[in-house]
Amino acid sequence: MNLKEKDSKYIAHTYARFPIEIVSGKGSLVYDENGKEYIDLGAGIAVNIFGLVDDEWINAVNAQMHKLQHMSNLYYTEPCADLAEMLCKRTGMSKVFFSNSGAEANECAIKAARKYAADKKGKHFYTIITLKNSFHGRTLTTLAATGQEEYHNDFTPLTPGFVYADPDDIESVKTLVKENKVAAIMMEIVQGEGGVIPLKSDFVKGVAKLAEEEDILVIIDEVQTGNGRTGELYAYMNHGITPDIVSTAKGIGGGLPIGATMLGEKVADVYQPGTHGSTFGGNPICCAGAVNILRRIDDKLLQSVKEKSEYIFKELEGAPGVVKVNGMGLMIGIETAKDAGDVIYECMNRGVLVLKAHNNVRLLPALNIPFDQLKKAVAVIREVCAQ
Ligand SMILES: Cc1ncc(COP(=O)(O)O)c(C=O)c1O
Repeated sequence: MNLKEKDSKYIAHTYARFPIEIVSGKGSLVYDENGKEYIDLGAGIAVNIFGLVDDEWINAVNAQMHKLQHMSNLYYTEPCADLAEMLCKRTGMSKVFFSNSGAEANECAIKAARKYAADKKGKHFYTIITLKNSFHGRTLTTLAATGQEEYHNDFTPLTPGFVYADPDDIESVKTLVKENKVAAIMMEIVQGEGGVIPLKSDFVKGVAKLAEEEDILVIIDEVQTGNGRTGELYAYMNHGITPDIVSTAKGIGGGLPIGATMLGEKVADVYQPGTHGSTFGGNPICCAGAVNILRRIDDKLLQSVKEKSEYIFKELEGAPGVVKVNGMGLMIGIETAKDAGDVIYECMNRGVLVLKAHNNVRLLPALNIPFDQLKKAVAVIREVCAQ
């Protein structure tokens, strides 16, 4: 049985895989089973912030691996405390809960908001407002938070207590606040899986103001937008708001599974021993790698993200066959005249890996992708869109 047959026989068919096997990589270059080279503009869906087989990250992970690979959260370990301190100092948040994925980081955020509201206003204040077209994960609760019916259909009943506002429409949020006993409003600053659509700054600020007036918590899902992706450490920083809870995952781990839920002042002590937990959360190896990643997301890197973003917009906006370019930083969606799926396959044939979000071509390259590789890849996308 070859690999494709074995995969098809033994792995649940939840992914529509491309017909290539990725065997190895270095930085933003990856190689398939025939040794063909590709420039990778997907980075494992915003995970490999410093590309593949990154030496500094490997050294950090390796050093920790030789000390301690895992210990129960019943004991103190250093890497998770170091990582939490770095996150709090760089965001102004107060405390962090560690888990293993974006969905779990969001579960923790939702539980924290519900507990805060229950303690302060009463148990019936459990509703969470999220936005239509959002994506927050695949567990039954984060699916309920996801404002896209197509993801819900086969899995009802979902966790109750979620209602959906129209993005960029503050009146729609106000109406839901009036009609429900609301604990929190949760949103992505750029809707990633929903097609790479940034929220308008006025809307984000309007939600933050409304939440402050109504004593409702603001949860920002930074699973995809976080960790330098938009040119700021976290995307909410582009709008000058102070969220109560920030969830992140993907890029912070540099390729190892980790989720982090940052808790602001109001909710810092909402959790007490026994109210939440995770066996692997705060795993020393994942945290040691993440400390290395976070340390390297500095002003210089963030500036280069903005410059690369400007370059992509400049090259693709108004190019033949490109209808619209959307996004922020190195999180970019391209609406193409041709079917996005066809563009993606043709790019792959020509040695460039790109992703899809709804019917848009989506780019999420490593933040340190060398400029010459980025230029080559963007030229290929231009050519393919034009044909
Ligand atoms: C905004 C957002 N939230 C949550 C998730 C879920 O993350 P995970 O797949 O790590 O559970 C994703 C994944 O794409 C995401 O983009």
